[in-house]
Amino acid sequence: MFIINCKNYQEISGDNIVKLAKITGKISKKYKVKIALAPPNHLLAKITNLSVPVLAQHVDNTNMGSTTGFMIPELLKASKIAGSLINHSEHRIPSTDIKQLVLRLRKLKMVSVVCVKNIVEAQKYAKLNPNYIAIEPSELIGSGKAVSKERPELVTKAVVAVKNANNSTKLLCGAGIVAGEDVEKAIQLGAKGILVASGIIKAKNWEKIIVEFTKAMI
Ligand code: G3P
Repeated sequence: MFIINCKNYQEISGDNIVKLAKITGKISKKYKVKIALAPPNHLLAKITNLSVPVLAQHVDNTNMGSTTGFMIPELLKASKIAGSLINHSEHRIPSTDIKQLVLRLRKLKMVSVVCVKNIVEAQKYAKLNPNYIAIEPSELIGSGKAVSKERPELVTKAVVAVKNANNSTKLLCGAGIVAGEDVEKAIQLGAKGILVASGIIKAKNWEKIIVEFTKAMI
């Protein structure tokens, strides 16, 4: 599994997101590797019919109805969104909300990806049995210096933390991943996939870099 978080980068604005989704779907099918896209909120529905799983970048623990501007899990589900990142380091939320959102997404049969910045959080949130824990040290995000090379011990410790929760949660790692060798290293360290943003979205040739990452996962 790898997840491409598009953040709010200009490169995916307007119809560019459709181009990215088509390329991603084609590569995912060819290499039989699951690749999900997390576009900004306003572009979510634009790519739900393009054979790539679509994740929201954020979801709110708020009810349907009079809740202007919030992202509601049940409504995302109704629009064929597969799941959501929760607690991304650029959009942190209280731990009670994390807990309730993991439960709520599970009940809806949606994918939950809880982002954490350290081992203590990995241990804590792995116990909730989300589908994925994604460990991302904030200082390496967008740096071009891969977590798998700069902080390999963090990845291996997170692998153990997730394993000790003794459930079906899988570990992803992210931050600074820009090349196939960074992905390979992450997998060698025991991660089951990666969460990546700038390394792909800001690359000149999306197809080339996604293929490079994908091959490194096999
Ligand atoms: O969600 C992925 C992200 O925070 C890592 O960003 O740009 O370092 O791949 P980047």
